[in-house]
Amino acid sequence: MGANTPELAGRVALVTGASRGIGRAIARTLAADGAAVVVNYRRDREAAESLVAEITDAGGRAVCVAASVGEVAEVDALADAALDAYGHVDLLVHNAGIASRGLPVAETSFEELHRVVSVHALGVHRLLGRLLPGMREQRRGDVVMISSSEVSEMRPNGAPYNMGKAALEALALTLAKEEVRHGIHVNIVAPGLVATDMGDRLVRAKLGEDSAEALDASMPLGRVCRPDDVARVVRFLVSEDAGYVTGQRIVVDGGVNASPTG
Ligand SMILES: NC(=O)c1ccc[n+]([C@@H]2O[C@H](COP(=O)([O-])OP(=O)(O)OC[C@H]3O[C@@H](n4cnc5c(N)ncnc54)[C@H](OP(=O)(O)O)[C@@H]3O)[C@@H](O)[C@H]2O)c1
Repeated sequence: MGANTPELAGRVALVTGASRGIGRAIARTLAADGAAVVVNYRRDREAAESLVAEITDAGGRAVCVAASVGEVAEVDALADAALDAYGHVDLLVHNAGIASRGLPVAETSFEELHRVVSVHALGVHRLLGRLLPGMREQRRGDVVMISSSEVSEMRPNGAPYNMGKAALEALALTLAKEEVRHGIHVNIVAPGLVATDMGDRLVRAKLGEDSAEALDASMPLGRVCRPDDVARVVRFLVSEDAGYVTGQRIVVDGGVNASPTG
C-alpha cells in the first residue's frame, strides 16, 4: 500500500443507524479513510442520501440502505443489499439505537421491551450470522458495538434500554472470544451523553434544557461529547494502531465517571 493510500482502502464498512447523529459521524470518518460504506437508516432517507452524496462528492464510495435492524426480514435484506453492493463486509459498526419511554418496569409493555431490545441487540445477532462467514475470509475483520455508559448505572425507568445495551455488550464480549482465531476484532464503545437528536431529547425530557449542548459548561472537559469524539475512537479501534486490541470496552464520557464530583 502506497504512502498516500488511505488506511481503510479496500475495506467495506456497514454502519447501522448512520443517517444522523453518531452513526453519521462514524460513516463519514470511515469513508474519509478510504472504506466503502453502507449507510443503513430506518426512516430519514433524505439524511441518508445527503451523506452518501457528501461521501461520493469527496471521492469516496457509499450506498444507503433502508432497513430496521429490529426486524428479522429487514436485517436479512440489509445483509443482502450490503453484500450485493460490495461483495463482503469486513467492518460492522452497530450503532442504531432508540431510547425507551422512561417508564418503570411495572408500566412497561412487553411490546416496547421487545422493540427496544430487538433494535439494540437481537437484530445484530442475526446480522452477524449473515456477515461473519465472509468476514472470516478477509485479512482482518472488525465489529464495533456502540453501547452506552448507562449500562454501568442501570438507572430506574430505563429497563428496555438498559437490557438492550447489556445484551449487546454480552454479545460483543462473547463474539470477541469466538472470532479472535479468525482475525476478527470485536470491541465496545460506550459514550455518555452525546449532542445528537437523541441526546437533545433526553436533556429536554430530564432537565428541561433545549439541547445537550446547553450542558457544555457543566461537563468535566468543558463540553458535552460530540459525534466526532465517538467516531474518532471507532476509527482508532479499526486501525492498524489497534491491531492487537480486541474484546475491550472504551467509555467515552469526557471524565464524567472519573470526575471528583462524579
Ligand atoms: N446521544 C446520546 O446521548 C447517546 C449516549 C450513549 C449511547 N448512545 C447510543 O448511540 C447510538 C446512536 O445514537 P444517536 O444519539 O446518534 O441517535 P439519533 O440521533 O437518534 O440517531 C439514531 C440513528 O439510528 C437510526 N435508527 C433508529 N432506529 C433504527 C432501526 N430500527 N434500524 C435502523 N436504524 C435505526 C436512525 O435512523 P433514521 O434517521 O432513519 O430514524 C438514526 O440514523 C445509539 O445506539 C444510542 O443508544 C447515544
